[in-house]
Amino acid sequence: MALPWDNTFPLMLAPMQGLTNRAMRAVMVEWAAPDVVFTEFVRVRAGSRRLISAVDTIEAASSFAVPQVVQLIGRKPSDLAGAAKAAVAAGAGHINLNLGCPFGRMTVNSGGGALLRDSDEIKAVLAAIRPLVPGSLSVKCRAGFSDPGEILSLLDIFVDRQVDFLILHPRTVAQKYKGDADHRITARVVRETPLPVIANGDIRTVEDAERVRELCNPAGLMLGRGAISDPMLFKRISGRAAAVVDPATRAAEISCFLRLLYDKYAVMFSGDQQVLTKLKAVISYIRVAELDRSLRKLLRAGNLTSFFAGLDNMVLSVTR
Ligand SMILES: Cc1cc2nc3c(=O)[nH]c(=O)nc-3n(C[C@H](O)[C@H](O)[C@H](O)COP(=O)(O)O)c2cc1C
Repeated sequence: MALPWDNTFPLMLAPMQGLTNRAMRAVMVEWAAPDVVFTEFVRVRAGSRRLISAVDTIEAASSFAVPQVVQLIGRKPSDLAGAAKAAVAAGAGHINLNLGCPFGRMTVNSGGGALLRDSDEIKAVLAAIRPLVPGSLSVKCRAGFSDPGEILSLLDIFVDRQVDFLILHPRTVAQKYKGDADHRITARVVRETPLPVIANGDIRTVEDAERVRELCNPAGLMLGRGAISDPMLFKRISGRAAAVVDPATRAAEISCFLRLLYDKYAVMFSGDQQVLTKLKAVISYIRVAELDRSLRKLLRAGNLTSFFAGLDNMVLSVTR
């Protein structure tokens, strides 16, 4: 079985609620060159307003140069079917079902990771959506709800229900983000299913990517926090940018990234304070030991003027 795209080993931008919004996805596509991007999850309840904004999202992104996958999260098959239908009608070519979110209402009588506890519900949801999606239908899973072996018992369901590919973040829902992503589980899933498996979790460097590729032989990789920290990671992994760079280059890249984001956030969000908060949310995921002090200072900036002055100082501090 093959992925729906020609690319032999696609690198995908993970869905991240609050981070990979339309502006972020546009900057990533234009500047960092992932092969596929995912929307943040679109929470589904009958007639929900989020769905309407999701439809806007899909339309706005139809000019993206790479495929965009629309992610849905929910529990009731009829609601998810309605959402899938609306998304396809708005131009979505690819739909993904979230079977992994470990937070809040998602796990109390709801979708996301909570669905992993109920294989009948998963069957019902996939049966309802599959006929409505002419493009690819994928699932994004944790390794299990509380036991990392649970995913193995679901693999036949995904094949039977004609899922096209599977993205695995090998932590349990109960684990949330604690511990490490255990890619030995990914390797086992790759061996046990004919479906293409995309490996996701804790890939922050070219070395991590090579280790996961070697260990698991996945069909592609999905990058989340690592791509926010270092958007050039897509190019580094695919050999289009240096694998490792010095702090001065990183500082210059971070500055460029935040300015590109600012241009779009200034239009998308209302008021300087909201824009600043959104830029700081990005900074909080950037990990460069040598820039740590400057990055922490940026998190304390009270307004956009001092934020951008701090950004310039960060670049100067490592280029002097
Ligand atoms: C702030 C944040 C928001 C997230 N939102 C979503 C989401 O909307 N849908 C989803 O499937 N996963 C979501 N995730 C999980 C990521 O897509 C990814 O599976 C996880 O972070 C592990 O990959 P990483 O180590 O590369 O970040 C989110 C993660 C973070 C940190």
